[in-house]
Amino acid sequence: MNVLDAIHARKSVRRFKDEVVPKEDILEMLEAATAAPSPKHQQNWNFVVVTNREIINKMAEIVTKSHENLGEIAKTEKDKKIHMSVINYYTCFKNAPVVIMVYGSEYKMIEYKILKENNASKEVLDMLVSPQSAAQGIGAAVENFLLAATEKGYGTCYMTGPTHAKLEIEKLIGLDKPGFELMSMISLGVAEDNTSPKPSRKPLEEVVTFID
Ligand SMILES: Cc1cc2nc3c(=O)[nH]c(=O)nc-3n(C[C@H](O)[C@H](O)[C@H](O)COP(=O)(O)O)c2cc1C
Repeated sequence: MNVLDAIHARKSVRRFKDEVVPKEDILEMLEAATAAPSPKHQQNWNFVVVTNREIINKMAEIVTKSHENLGEIAKTEKDKKIHMSVINYYTCFKNAPVVIMVYGSEYKMIEYKILKENNASKEVLDMLVSPQSAAQGIGAAVENFLLAATEKGYGTCYMTGPTHAKLEIEKLIGLDKPGFELMSMISLGVAEDNTSPKPSRKPLEEVVTFID
């Protein structure tokens, strides 16, 4: 499979067969993830591979509870209904044999230090960090992981929904690396037959501008 084929074949998979993913395969996908570009090559990512069924179930319980709690404080029944209608999109990692926890740390910017030491306003500092470079590098790594998984015949789902329960999940996982926080999760496994197709995209005319 060439890269373009993998890009177009990848789709989000939320249901998996009860099949083990060999550790060598997971390591190969993680090698692909860490081959991604990162801002100033800071490689501000860290991965925790969870295959322990009890921990995956516990995480799903934590996310379900947090989701319900959020639903309870919604100001309108309509908001509550919309919020609760997507609960499966937040908890579907429970169907996967492997969940990769993706952590990120701060992207250190010298220009931030310089501006801060010159008493730059909050507005100026916020604008400087608004491209969220740390998160962009992590996104690149996750996409590399997804493409490598596709090439190897696995299904994946990139997930940030569960991070509304981030603190509790972080406590459960207990990654002992100061400065790292949970950014996203990847469900990984052999896709069940007949999973949902990849949804169509906005046409290029809507999202691309050429300046000749
Ligand atoms: C940053 C990010 C976060 C996402 N979070 C979730 C999630 O929490 N749950 C989920 O089911 N899908 C999640 N997705 C997958 C999107 O729903 C999916 O990519 C989109 O609907 C397009 O479908 P496709 O991946 O099959 O092309 C996420 C995707 C991205 C890039």
